[in-house]
Amino acid sequence: MAEKYTGKRAIVLAAGLGKRMKSQRPKVLHEVLGKAIITRVLDALDDTGVEHIHIVLGHGRAQVEEFLQANPPKTKYSLHVQEPQLGTGHAVMQVADALAGFSGTLLVCAGDTPLLSSITLSRLIDEHEGQKASVSLLSTIVDDPKNYGRIVRDTTGRVTHIVEDKDANESEKKIPEVNASIYCFSWPQAADGLGQLKNDNRQKEYYLTDLVGWAVGKRLPVSAVITSDWQEVCGINSRLELSEANELLKKKVLKKLALEDGVTVLDPASSWIAPEVKVGQDTTILPGCLIMGDVTIGSNCLIGPNAVIHGPTRIGNDTKVSQSLVVRSQVGANCQVGPFAHLRDNAEVGDSVRIGNFVEVKKSEIGNQTNVSHLSYIGDAEIGTGANIGAGTITANYDHITKRKERTIIGNNASTGSNSVLVAPVNVGSGAVVAAGTVVTKDVPNDSLAVGRARQENKEGWSQSKRRTK
Ligand code: UD1
Ligand code: MG
Repeated sequence: MAEKYTGKRAIVLAAGLGKRMKSQRPKVLHEVLGKAIITRVLDALDDTGVEHIHIVLGHGRAQVEEFLQANPPKTKYSLHVQEPQLGTGHAVMQVADALAGFSGTLLVCAGDTPLLSSITLSRLIDEHEGQKASVSLLSTIVDDPKNYGRIVRDTTGRVTHIVEDKDANESEKKIPEVNASIYCFSWPQAADGLGQLKNDNRQKEYYLTDLVGWAVGKRLPVSAVITSDWQEVCGINSRLELSEANELLKKKVLKKLALEDGVTVLDPASSWIAPEVKVGQDTTILPGCLIMGDVTIGSNCLIGPNAVIHGPTRIGNDTKVSQSLVVRSQVGANCQVGPFAHLRDNAEVGDSVRIGNFVEVKKSEIGNQTNVSHLSYIGDAEIGTGANIGAGTITANYDHITKRKERTIIGNNASTGSNSVLVAPVNVGSGAVVAAGTVVTKDVPNDSLAVGRARQENKEGWSQSKRRTK
């Protein structure tokens, strides 16, 4: 009899070498639309209600561990080591001790299926628990079953076992129904099956897939869910499959933006937008945009051409970002950014602000209706509202000797003339004016003029006399 389902846990298998990637980087850390493959799998698990995720690591363990410390899943997780890597069944065995005392549904997925959705996972869990199955598997029908495991069914259509591509005979190789490498097991019942796995196959590995044949042999209830969306369960084993997965996900995102969100993407072939990105209605994305991570763009915006935006970033309504780079920053509504601007690392730009060409803004706040229109560097600064920062204004924020960054504060309605340098720490008061070419080294009081440049002298007739002596 199947167990009573009292809990839900998941195992993610991520110990394999990923030999076919030909990479120094562990396979699961390669990215699909800006997010590591393993994070995409963990994100899907986060929404299924599993209480705990056991992650099995082996190859490149230190790198994956460090990555997970910096990017943990929402769900509680623990790491388990598989050394050496003797197959997917062997990988699950490494978690058996940690599962002592647990009884319920054990969801197992491969760490290399980044397009997986929590909806499909939940469907598998529901089917497994609803059918009171001992083993449930997810399969799909594909045109090219290439190196996937094939689902073998008897004449009545019941699943009998899974055969790996490398072990399949010619007729088995023709089976279009393939194993997604996503299963539910009733635990601790499945532990018996794990103990009985053998490695008498072409790869000399302990295959997790053999648990299906084991359950059928023991007349335990096995259920199979066929998903019509083969794209969701595609596993990444090579860089070619990685680029295909990027392309598949990109198409899904663009379809959702177009059909559900009311967003125009002018050239879908040249723009890459991650599924995390939220875009408001009637925004247009012009060709050549790369928008990745936790990014929210308002409605009626015009983004691109050639805008690169990395999250976490927020962009307000009616804002234009043209040929610019915006990284981890905020831009208000009705702004104009670019062409060729660079906002980075907590640039916080208010509403109706213009950040023009060749302007870099780093870790600075810029108030509403302020313009920084040409050729400036604004770093570690706070600029009030209605200010005008003249072409070529530089905040000299970095002291190379002390290695310290200092702040520049510019008050409301202040203005700086072209080519002024503000040597931080320094305050320019509200309504103050800095004359063009001034090097500001001391605070400027409110409403005053700061001029710090050699006084101009005109030598009348000088050039004429020069010409005469030639
Ligand atoms: C596996 C399945 C296959 C299925 C395919 C779907 C087995 C035996 N085969 O094949 O039926 O169609 O996935 O994508 O399960 N891993 C470990 N330890 C190991 C070996 C693998 O943790 O010793 C991990 C890998 O890191 C990977 C996952 O298990 O995330 C699957 O391994 P992989 O080598 O990619 O198996 P496939 O050949 O794709
Ligand atoms: Mg695989």
